[in-house]
Amino acid sequence: MIIAAALAAVCVGCSSPAKEQGLKDVYADYFKVGVALKPENMNPAEQALTLREFNSVTCENVMKPGEIHPAADVWNFAKADSIADWCRANGIKMRGHCLCWHNQFAMWMLSDEEGNPVSKEVFYERLREHIHTVVGRYKDVIYCWDVVNEAITDDDVAENPFRQSFLYELCGDEFIAKAFEFAAEADPEAVLFYNDYNSFLPGKRDRIAAMVRDMQARGVKINGIGMQGHCNLEVPTAENLSDAIDTFASIVDHVQVTELDIRVNREFGGQLNFSHEGETVSDSIIALHVAQYERFFRVLREHKEQIDVVTFWNLSDKDSWVGTANYPLLFDTELEKKPAYEAVTKF
Ligand code: G3I
Repeated sequence: MIIAAALAAVCVGCSSPAKEQGLKDVYADYFKVGVALKPENMNPAEQALTLREFNSVTCENVMKPGEIHPAADVWNFAKADSIADWCRANGIKMRGHCLCWHNQFAMWMLSDEEGNPVSKEVFYERLREHIHTVVGRYKDVIYCWDVVNEAITDDDVAENPFRQSFLYELCGDEFIAKAFEFAAEADPEAVLFYNDYNSFLPGKRDRIAAMVRDMQARGVKINGIGMQGHCNLEVPTAENLSDAIDTFASIVDHVQVTELDIRVNREFGGQLNFSHEGETVSDSIIALHVAQYERFFRVLREHKEQIDVVTFWNLSDKDSWVGTANYPLLFDTELEKKPAYEAVTKF
């Protein structure tokens, strides 16, 4: 009798317990909603939260060249595999991040045994082998790659639109073309992204657009542009965001927000404040945080035909790279929904 009553209580008039709707369900008619994970998130509570809310996963760090391939004959697949295998088992597709970036790079690719710089031809041979190995290993579960990350300068008055990284110094802009060439060889089906931050700012937006157009004119397969989306309470404006989406969607078939977080920055838009200590955030700042998330997602919904995935960078404020005190995500340090969650899902 008790069991029957309990079952009846669980779900009156339906065949199974009501499943809690998550971001992925609310946005099923708009775009996929993804999240960047670290191996430490592979625990029951955070796996359950991921399954409830998201339908795309990115590895925050463990697929980056310097992490997964730290020496010519050293491959660290275990951490990436722990996330990829979980995604495979749960039918979640992944974004690959990333194949070529001046940060967390496999620096051994640039020098010989004596530590002298290698030629760009030798570098390309090593980069090609890296890309073919990583892309080949995960092509069953990864549907798109951030092939090149952050190759454009932030300087609006610079003569040269490219970041003057060690990659550019060795190769000029050719390393961009080569990285995409190798990725296209390794997985002709994958969508190949150029990914960058501050892409909503008109100057950088236009430099990114010009580079992608130029590369496409040279026969390079760039069919996605990733707007990272590391925002604060004021940037981007709705207009910045809308204009960037329109600009990029006129060039490529796939536009995504790839690394979304909205930090409160005690200085309101000043320099990043990577404080990691927990702090209470005032009601007035919470209201601004809610307003910026509401504005951001309203514009994304208006552009639903042009956006195919929106990925949050980290699962909860506990993990965020900008620190807990910047209050950046939709879930707090206890994995509970924050006020901005309501603003994003009730429309
Ligand atoms: O792996 C080492 C570990 O061995 C060491 O003990 C520890 C302490 O020094 O550092 C660990 O490396 C850290 C790495 O994350 C992995 O946890 C680095 O110090 C730390 O700088 C690195 O930060 C990452 C950052 O990229 C590197 O620039 C952040 O977690 C990651 O969220 C961030 O993500 C980038 C995207 O990939 C590209 N777009 C910008 C975004 C923010 O910078």
